[in-house]
Amino acid sequence: MSQVVLVTGATSGIGRHVALDLARAGHRVFATGRRVEALASLQREGAREGVKIETLALDVTSAASIASARQAIDAATQGRGVEVLVNNAGYGVMGPVEEVGAEALRAQYETNVFGLMAVTRAFLPGMRARGRGRVINVSSMGGRVTFPMMGVYNSTKYAVESLSDALRVEVKPFGVDVVLIEPGAIRTEFADVAMGSIAHDASSPYAAAVANAAAVRKKFEATMVGPEYVTRAIRKAVESKRPRARYVTPYSALASIWLLKLLPTSWADAILGRVSGLTRGNLAPGAPAKLSLAPLKA
Ligand SMILES: NC(=O)c1ccc[n+]([C@@H]2O[C@H](COP(=O)([O-])OP(=O)(O)OC[C@H]3O[C@@H](n4cnc5c(N)ncnc54)[C@H](OP(=O)(O)O)[C@@H]3O)[C@@H](O)[C@H]2O)c1
Repeated sequence: MSQVVLVTGATSGIGRHVALDLARAGHRVFATGRRVEALASLQREGAREGVKIETLALDVTSAASIASARQAIDAATQGRGVEVLVNNAGYGVMGPVEEVGAEALRAQYETNVFGLMAVTRAFLPGMRARGRGRVINVSSMGGRVTFPMMGVYNSTKYAVESLSDALRVEVKPFGVDVVLIEPGAIRTEFADVAMGSIAHDASSPYAAAVANAAAVRKKFEATMVGPEYVTRAIRKAVESKRPRARYVTPYSALASIWLLKLLPTSWADAILGRVSGLTRGNLAPGAPAKLSLAPLKA
């Protein structure tokens, strides 16, 4: 059955791919994001295939923006409203937990957690009143396991996991499903944004590990898959009669989650520390710098 779907963060990456896929499948899609030119380009891409995608500017950190998007969708759908909400907008701040500034930490929560909750709160009453609806939260494998240098970002996804787990049980009696999507490493603009957030300060005690981040990214890039993997999971979450609580994609992400969960913490710490260049030898004052501190160019 065709659903009215709102996708946040649809200007690039996963959100863009999902918006196109769901529109192609016959759903009525409202694709949203902050970059209006990118939304116009998405709309044009749909139109070239004869697929209609409706777009709205929506900053998930702005209450006014959320309220006006809700009004616009209510008006456009003659009060039918949003039946499926795909909370996809998000980004990653990288760096040692100690060195991510208070402002960057707050901003990360404003978008990934408070923004997601504000959008959810705006559309849940309509779903409850209808006795039917679906909230699909794009979390991450980093919402199940934590990686050094990604602690701030991972913590926001842990928050999304916990809020979603509670919400799923709370709104089930009203006919509303809550689904978590847990992607592994996906080829989108995410890595460039995350790498761009690292402070490169040669005098930092973590400088050698920060320099190592570019090398870690290269290793990760080899395992990355395209956004179509996540789109497939989201499509299932939208269309299944009984959606699962969690969809991990790709399978390699599931394997990593289980491996890190099964290993004793001390073993997992040792592996992750070594991979991230967070070893005594590497961080010792005066240790030879192994890699350039220059930020990686996209
Ligand atoms: N790529 C991965 O490896 C990966 C892995 C696990 C989970 N994820 C999650 O997947 C989701 C999508 O990321 P992606 O990989 O597709 O990255 P992306 O290509 O960078 O897309 C991120 C999207 O979020 C939007 N966004 C950021 N801040 C926003 C705000 N305040 N209000 C509204 N939209 C905002 C951006 O749009 P505008 O800038 O136009 O607003 C953009 O459309 C995120 O939640 C991310 O945490 C990604």
